[in-house]
Amino acid sequence: MKILLTGGTGYIGSHTAIELIKRGYEVEIMDNLFNSKITVLDEIEKITGVKPKFYKVDLLDKEGLNKLFSEGNYDIVIHFAGLKAVGESVEKPLKYYENNVGGTINLLEVMSKYNVKKIVFSSSATVYGEQAKTEMTEEMQTGVGITNPYGETKHIIEEMLKDVAEADKDYEVTILRYFNPVGAHESGLIGEDPNDIPNNLMPIIMKVSTGEIAELSVYGDDYDTVDGTGMRDYIHVVDLAEGHVAAIEHMKPGVLIYNLGTGKATSVLEMISAFEKESGKKLPYKIVGRRPGDLAIIFANPEKAFKELGWKTKLTIEDAMRDTINYLNKRS
Ligand code: NAD
Ligand code: UD1
Repeated sequence: MKILLTGGTGYIGSHTAIELIKRGYEVEIMDNLFNSKITVLDEIEKITGVKPKFYKVDLLDKEGLNKLFSEGNYDIVIHFAGLKAVGESVEKPLKYYENNVGGTINLLEVMSKYNVKKIVFSSSATVYGEQAKTEMTEEMQTGVGITNPYGETKHIIEEMLKDVAEADKDYEVTILRYFNPVGAHESGLIGEDPNDIPNNLMPIIMKVSTGEIAELSVYGDDYDTVDGTGMRDYIHVVDLAEGHVAAIEHMKPGVLIYNLGTGKATSVLEMISAFEKESGKKLPYKIVGRRPGDLAIIFANPEKAFKELGWKTKLTIEDAMRDTINYLNKRS
């Protein structure tokens, strides 16, 4: 089985490439390297013994995509490629719609042309928007109360994929709604290394620990949560990668949707103390006002993925912190 990973040199794509290669799948990667580095391929080779074939192609380059698929003979596409900086998406919405939505249209067109009709899509818990409930199940309404263009692109792409699968019954679409990916590969060779400006908690914690950012601003301590700070479902990236393997092994015609999360929520202060415990270092922080658009608490109900894919998370926040620190140490 030959699998193309769009955005495969990125954070989640590179970890998924490793798990797929370990299970004997043939993996090829395309990426424009906007938010990742080509050296990731060498690290994948060090870990697995296999260096995936790589193509520097942009999803907006129709000719490049056409060439890739005319030679590729892919069975499945796992579509990670996209821009994900939430703050930037508010400032430059059209860039996000063009890249994420436009890029996916180009991809789906070329896939249809070359009769590749299996796609796994990287969606996000952000599609649930604001809800009365805090534990998300897949059948809940989506698309209402999304607070930024990045999140809108995820919702639009989900709807587009449903329409494509409706129009052509041969399509096998799996939508994976990631909660909050954290951690790194246990080797310390790959991890989250964004070129873009991070606004997610874990990359900021990493930059505070290395001194690149002076202190962490904790966005609010007056939420109705265990300690007043926001709570999220942090999933180790290796567990998440394994979720993709499970997903491709259970594809069928139509659309399948799964939450990939742990089912547990952890607060910002709990994340800080877990990092401090694993690193033995104090992490400077201050409490500031709430971030607009933030919810108090959101976490996955991951039952559906367990029942249908036989997948559940195995790793803990402590594992994620240990692996992140190992990655930071190896990098410095
Ligand atoms: P990432 O930025 O590390 O990886 C995405 C990759 O896509 C990058 O290597 C980038 O260079 C590439 N890319 C972007 N636009 C492209 C284009 N037009 N053509 C070719 N390549 C392009 O991000 P990630 O954290 O690995 O996320 C992967 C996917 O998962 C994204 O779609 C993201 O929106 C989604 N997701 C991520 C999170 C998270 O917190 N990391 C949460 C939910 C969903
Ligand atoms: C954010 C995005 C969401 C996106 C997701 C994954 C917003 C409003 N939402 O979600 O659309 O799908 O990232 O990319 O941006 N925190 C701090 N200080 C910081 C950073 C974060 O206290 O400097 C807190 C937040 O308030 C939140 C938690 O840490 O309680 C996690 O934040 P973050 O990593 O940005 O993820 P989400 O808010 O879940």
